[in-house]
Amino acid sequence: MTTATTGATTTGAVGTAHTRVEGRDKVTGAARYAGEIPFADLAHGWLVLSTVARGRILSVDTGPVLGMPGVLTVLHHGNAPRLDIDYVGMLGVPPDPTAAVFQNDRVPYAGWPVALVVAETSEQAREAAERLVVTYEQEPHDVTLSGDRPDAYAADGHMPAVTEKGDLEAELAACSHVVDAEYTTPEEHHGMMEPHAATALWDGGRLEVVDSNQGTTWVADELARMFSLDPSAVRVRSDHVGGGFGSKGVRVHQVSAVMAATELQRPVRVVLTRRQMFTLTGYRSPTVQRVRLGAGPDGRLRALEHRSLNQTSTVWEFVEPSAGVARSLYDADAHRTENKVVRLDVPSPAWMRAPGEAPGSFALECALDELAEKCGVDPVELRLRNDPERGPISGLPFGSRNLAACFREGARRFGWAGRDPRPGVRRDGRWLLGTGTAAASFPASAMPSTAAVTAEPDGTFTVRISAADIGTGARTALTLVAADALRVPTDRVRVHIGDSDFGPAMIAGGSAGTRSWAWAVTAAAEELRERLVPGGTVPPEGVTVRSDTTAAIAALTQKERLSYGAQFAEVAVDVTTGEVRVRRMLGIFAAGRIVNPLTARGQLVGGMTWGISMALHEEAVRDRVFGGLYGADLAGYHVATHADVPTVEADWVDDPDPDDPVGIKGIGEVGIVGAAAAVANAVWHATGVRHRNLPIRPDRVLRAGGTGV
Ligand code: MOS
Repeated sequence: MTTATTGATTTGAVGTAHTRVEGRDKVTGAARYAGEIPFADLAHGWLVLSTVARGRILSVDTGPVLGMPGVLTVLHHGNAPRLDIDYVGMLGVPPDPTAAVFQNDRVPYAGWPVALVVAETSEQAREAAERLVVTYEQEPHDVTLSGDRPDAYAADGHMPAVTEKGDLEAELAACSHVVDAEYTTPEEHHGMMEPHAATALWDGGRLEVVDSNQGTTWVADELARMFSLDPSAVRVRSDHVGGGFGSKGVRVHQVSAVMAATELQRPVRVVLTRRQMFTLTGYRSPTVQRVRLGAGPDGRLRALEHRSLNQTSTVWEFVEPSAGVARSLYDADAHRTENKVVRLDVPSPAWMRAPGEAPGSFALECALDELAEKCGVDPVELRLRNDPERGPISGLPFGSRNLAACFREGARRFGWAGRDPRPGVRRDGRWLLGTGTAAASFPASAMPSTAAVTAEPDGTFTVRISAADIGTGARTALTLVAADALRVPTDRVRVHIGDSDFGPAMIAGGSAGTRSWAWAVTAAAEELRERLVPGGTVPPEGVTVRSDTTAAIAALTQKERLSYGAQFAEVAVDVTTGEVRVRRMLGIFAAGRIVNPLTARGQLVGGMTWGISMALHEEAVRDRVFGGLYGADLAGYHVATHADVPTVEADWVDDPDPDDPVGIKGIGEVGIVGAAAAVANAVWHATGVRHRNLPIRPDRVLRAGGTGV
């Protein structure tokens, strides 16, 4: 037993750059991902997906396949266990039937899971899955989203479908300067590097699932409900995660693996292929958005309307709340927002990085740019003039709103002053040059979490929290936070995450993971520090303090809390090919106290890079005839690659959240918000042509023409 207590002074780890604590494990291959962790007696499942876009399964001809080498079982709607799907889960939504598989014979879209073939090896399972004959009664399908669908309906999702104040039409009619435009964004996919993979096994009466997900207690809770198990009988682990972006919740891979492991009473692994991910793991719905803005000559908004329509499946309602961003960003005397959905024979969309804000900010921030042009007001100045004092719809005070500071600092560093407002006047050889800007915002929230911190006899400290590090650097951030709360150097702190046995905690989502977890870790660590007697001894079992932030978070005063940013982009447009190249990009953010500048910068630059990708490259194209996607892989689905991404700089202004114990707000999603709009606005500035439909492909640029093109 050694003497071990905490120091008397703050070490100040938070705010200093720290490489990832698991970085060495990752680059040496010691860190193992869900699909590669070995298990004795492991069987492998391979999913079979529907080839028709709508209809019924008439038969699943399992006989021939069951006789193939190594095949152990074939699960389908005719023999799979019944699941309880009549519940509302932790995130306030019922389960997507795409995950709660094999419950009936209906096929709601092309690529719907109809069977799982399990065999001794992955190769045998795949071979048998490809041979499995499934017959269908096919029905006509409809996969076409358009802005004038009569069957579209207003839908709430996580926020009210409609907000309204003032007389919009009267106000618009009285405005000297009006923008009225439709913007569209295409179907976009998460495309994270690590595919979904899970192994399920029964171990001494407990179900264990080794997975890649954004929240182990979330997935454990959903599996317990679906399979009607006692919550304590389910353990989900997820150590390293190669990207999530909203896609890694409860999905078909875990559920079907649990079904098979239960039937076979041996460990079963199900790994999704890249192609399967395009129909089984959610995506960002295409949107059709209409924005109407009205102002006087000074550009101050008098009327604002933002309407959005997204598609969802016939089996699950998902709202991409793109009009929501206007509810907090800008005020107007008459203000109306509306989110609608239409049900089509398509896969269920889902949360994808900045759901709502990412496509919504494209429409709204492009419309603001159009208004700036009409009013002859500089786009940065226009935003400064329209920076509200209170929440436009809620009427609540802002927690802290340093958007103006972001624009001022961003404009200074980008060299915005002296920009010629006229489009199409800057040239560099065959390239037309332009610059654009846009605002970014994303809610800063905290959700109840529990954590345990243990003082070990050797003078180190162990933190246990069912957090998820989906590549964000959360494990490292929590190490810094714990070290500061304990007042010890970071090398005396070990953080264990990704295990539902550690108790309930926020998921890695909503940009609220690190803030929520840091709150719980700080609470436990501070209490532990008070408990330890300076110079005292620690018993062999250690001293453990647990925290639960439920009450503290419930006691927060009502405010509009958001992270903000100002995006700036410079583009060059090739007048002969229509190619758009981003030359440089700068984002300045006000996003709370930055825990680890190294990984925080990575998050923000990653979001901005995705914004470039969204503006110029990404587009999943659905075939009307067969109802599925063309090129559902990373060859057919274009994402920005290294050569597409020039200098992207992200930085921040001082903006600690006064109501958070560490000052954190959240940075996971704000980086993508406004990024595509900044690029699109720069393309207008270069060419004089507004591109209101993403992505801004070369053929669109050429067809649209423009100054000198
Ligand atoms: Mo994010 S879309 O909340 O993972």
